[in-house]
Amino acid sequence: MIRKARIEDVKAIHGLLMLTDQHDGLVLPRSFSQLYSHLRDFLVVTDDEGTIIGCCALNIIWDNLAEIRSLVVTSTHRGKNLGRKLVEACLSEAVTLGIYKVYTLTEVPGFFEKVGFAQEEMDTLNQKIFLDCLNCPRFPDHCNEVAMIINL
Ligand SMILES: CC(C)(COP(=O)(O)OP(=O)(O)OC[C@H]1O[C@@H](n2cnc3c(N)ncnc32)[C@H](O)[C@@H]1OP(=O)(O)O)[C@@H](O)C(=O)NCCC(=O)NCCS
Repeated sequence: MIRKARIEDVKAIHGLLMLTDQHDGLVLPRSFSQLYSHLRDFLVVTDDEGTIIGCCALNIIWDNLAEIRSLVVTSTHRGKNLGRKLVEACLSEAVTLGIYKVYTLTEVPGFFEKVGFAQEEMDTLNQKIFLDCLNCPRFPDHCNEVAMIINL
């Protein structure tokens, strides 16, 4: 089941984002403080027992721009379209909010292509670069991420 995250989910989300064996180091860890203040950005997917097996966040950046981030599906549940469903649920929320352009920065462009995103020059995302990239230790020479955009 995919649903909005609740406050009691924060520890599980933190665990997913911290454990590199769950995301191969491809997702930035986030502090508890960041997770509490951005909790409303998050969707989670649960198994039949209610255990959280994946998460994804839609972060509003600007008046017609949002970012998909913190996408993880636990390794034992991959290949069941859960990643796709999480991203699609975030895109649906973007449309509900009146936001029609969504991007992600990723090292797995193949997955996002399957979900309808297309590669874009990083320079087109000025707001993102001002907000986050400038403070990232990998920026600019050690960044392996590509920008992917979808227009809804
Ligand atoms: C990327 C990730 C979220 C995909 O989750 P998933 O539930 O296994 O993906 P899905 O089953 O929804 O796959 C949807 C489609 O994408 C494809 N796909 C999945 N992972 C892929 C990858 N790494 N590269 C290319 N294509 C991929 C699938 O084959 C499927 O294609 P199909 O529709 O032709 O069958 C998951 O592998 C993961 O958590 N990876 C580690 C963290 C990560 O990389 N997060 C994204 C960082 S931005």
